[in-house]
Amino acid sequence: AVTHVHQFVIQEASVKRLCKTQHVMTVNGMYPGPTLEIKNGDTLSVKVINKGKYNITIHWHGVRQMRTGWADGPEFVTQCPIRPGGSYTYRFTVRGQEGTLWWHAHSTWLRATVYGALLIQPREGTNFPFAKPNRQSTLLLGEWWNANPVDVVREATRTGAAPNISDAYTINGQPGDLYNCSKQDTVVVPISSGETNLLRVVNSAMNQPLFFTIANHKFTVVGADASYVKPFTTSVLMLGPGQTTDVLISGDQTPGRYYMAARAYQSAQNAPFDNTTTTAILEYSKSSSAAKPIMPRLPAFNDTPTVTAFSTSFRSREKALVPAQVDENLFFTVGLGLNSCPPNFNKTQQCQGPNGTRFTASMNNVSFSLPSNFSLLQAHKQGIRGVFTTDFPAAPPRVFDYTGNVSRSLFQPATGTKLYRLKYGSRVQVVLQGTSIVTPENHPIHLHGYDFYIIAEGFGNFNPKTDSSKFNLVDPPLRNTAAVPVGGWAVIRFVADNPGVWLMHCHLDVHITWGLAMAFLVEDGVGKLEAIEPPPEDLPICS
Ligand code: C2O
Repeated sequence: AVTHVHQFVIQEASVKRLCKTQHVMTVNGMYPGPTLEIKNGDTLSVKVINKGKYNITIHWHGVRQMRTGWADGPEFVTQCPIRPGGSYTYRFTVRGQEGTLWWHAHSTWLRATVYGALLIQPREGTNFPFAKPNRQSTLLLGEWWNANPVDVVREATRTGAAPNISDAYTINGQPGDLYNCSKQDTVVVPISSGETNLLRVVNSAMNQPLFFTIANHKFTVVGADASYVKPFTTSVLMLGPGQTTDVLISGDQTPGRYYMAARAYQSAQNAPFDNTTTTAILEYSKSSSAAKPIMPRLPAFNDTPTVTAFSTSFRSREKALVPAQVDENLFFTVGLGLNSCPPNFNKTQQCQGPNGTRFTASMNNVSFSLPSNFSLLQAHKQGIRGVFTTDFPAAPPRVFDYTGNVSRSLFQPATGTKLYRLKYGSRVQVVLQGTSIVTPENHPIHLHGYDFYIIAEGFGNFNPKTDSSKFNLVDPPLRNTAAVPVGGWAVIRFVADNPGVWLMHCHLDVHITWGLAMAFLVEDGVGKLEAIEPPPEDLPICS
């Protein structure tokens, strides 16, 4: 195994999109940031030097970080932020994961421009569990604002309103042909007749689940979130933010140019549906670059049946190690809420949420708030009191019709820094129940430090009596982000074998801003190899 050493300099750069120049944070001046490529079993050592004007951290989304929780990255969870002028080296080994992951800033909305791909090739001396593709291409789906994203979220926090929606969706940072001033920079993905290309698709958008499709071509899905799946074919993918999907495509069509396109599944924040499509071009060798690409048909923005057909097709390729029994049986509601505005909430403008309220979001009626003086992991390891409590409830405080016509007054979440404590090695089941308070949405729920099995999903209210018969304990997919069906639920299982403090949150960033998060505190086990490693010497500490 190899150690890959990289340097990430966080710096402001001018980026021109949609005819306008913005000054945004980047890594090494690049937007999106550099692609890291390793093999399963390799170690990464990335020195992050903050030459920007904001505090920042980097998260290695989906990397299991076994016993190396200090390298996970969410600010005030596993570390204090790297201040302007400071630096921190993230060092960790990737074990047993192959496929596509990614990295992104985990501090305010900096990840809108500070993100990139992490490609994990098969372990040295091994191959893909499918015929070796002729090429590999990475497609990072994203969002672009004609503004500084940090200002967009600051303004929303100030007013209590929903933040402005983005001005474009992007593929590898480019809006593509259908947007103003973008045509000349549209991403081109090459293919030759008879070839296969492994496409690694990442939804790195801030707030938007996205459909993705290519005109006239079918996908063979082979992996997701850096785990292989039993191959299946589909003509459309749906990824929630945070999710990755690896697909094979074949150069089996008439040589020419074909659009690959991504468009919204549902609209974030219940904002008016924004009918825009980002495109890249699949281009056969020897085809004329003058030819007008063929446009695919994309599903309608509310086409949930297509999403369900896709999400229920995933099966683990390797033998699934799903716990058959569980020690912790948890039931978490995930959704939005509304709170009244404090009297002095805003001196210049009153609360701009619905009817003079402000938006909030919660799990089990607790809206998560980050500490500001310590990281949770540091407070846990050093026994510092008063930073968090461990009374995160195992179920919501009251039972109601979660997906019915729910009164907005039903949930007015309390704010807290509450963790749920897990014994080392405990077998955990979590029912993630979407609510329709304010609005039902498809919430991409991401767990740090773990992969989990998604053993079932469905619509309406989860019913423990009848729905447990639907559990797949044989070959469920292993993921790090579960797209909880809109107006429905998903059930996940994992074994708490990685000690540390691990955030679980909705990967729609606006929902994290509003508190849709909690954290597990997984205690050390008894042996040395069951304990988190000591913190690195350069770990940023809050003063
Ligand atoms: Cu990719 Cu906590 O996030």
